[in-house]
Amino acid sequence: PPLFIITPTYKRPEQLAELTRLSHTLMHVPNLTWLVIEDAYKRNDLIEELLSRSGLRYQYMVAPMPVEFKNKTRGPKPRGVSNRNKGLQWIRQNAKSGVFYFADDDNTYDLELFKQIRYTKRVSMFPVGLITKAGVSSPIVRNGVFSGFYDGWIGGRKFAVDMAGFAVSVEFLLLRPHAVMPFKPGFEEDGFLKSLSPFEPKQVELLATNCTKILVWHTQTKKNEPSLPIDMNKYNNSNLIMLKK
Ligand code: UGA
Ligand code: MN
Repeated sequence: PPLFIITPTYKRPEQLAELTRLSHTLMHVPNLTWLVIEDAYKRNDLIEELLSRSGLRYQYMVAPMPVEFKNKTRGPKPRGVSNRNKGLQWIRQNAKSGVFYFADDDNTYDLELFKQIRYTKRVSMFPVGLITKAGVSSPIVRNGVFSGFYDGWIGGRKFAVDMAGFAVSVEFLLLRPHAVMPFKPGFEEDGFLKSLSPFEPKQVELLATNCTKILVWHTQTKKNEPSLPIDMNKYNNSNLIMLKK
């Protein structure tokens, strides 16, 4: 079955590095379409070039975060939600079968993950390695049976999972025309999985050897200040002018 990888991305100093690393992971995965959706109003030539050079089958789209959220000064923002909904829309219009997975641009993926999620019938789940105190986010499995969720923050969620912790069958999605990700910080995964109703946690397909293996890590690249512009007068005709474009 074909795999569709939905990757939200946005402009910041580490963006090209993250996308380089992720593209090099995905180059090892057969029968894949990479949906790269940037939180921006227009596409960036450097990213188009990176994607083209990867040789991957890809779609590069933009989906800006609505300004009401972007301009928020306090509290968390719904990061990557516009992007993912755009990816879902593309799948509804272009895919008939297969499996999709939300892969943030900064996480770390074991190639074994893609082998396993490809056979998802409805919704599959698996542990996500965290770099926070909790250490892991995972379905709890007792005697081979789903029996709850472990996460650093449960927050009254029906599906207390990480964005990187589940994959969904395309056909399953297509039978649920109203499924969508809400603009609710902290509740994006829960809201989306609830919108796949009828679907209950006990129907989850447990991967990664009954959720005993970590095949994906929710890594984060340290944020730094943006680099300074180059002094055009001082470095005119030098490679630095090109490099800093
Ligand atoms: C966690 C979750 O794993 C994300 O899926 C979730 O969107 C996010 O929290 C949230 O709810 O805010 P985290 O590592 O904290 O992830 O978030 P980021 O990696 O900063 O962002 C998640 C994705 O959205 C990334 O692929 C990122 O490139 C993208 N993003 C982030 C945007 O498109 N726009 C932004 O303004 C920020
Ligand atoms: Mn992240």
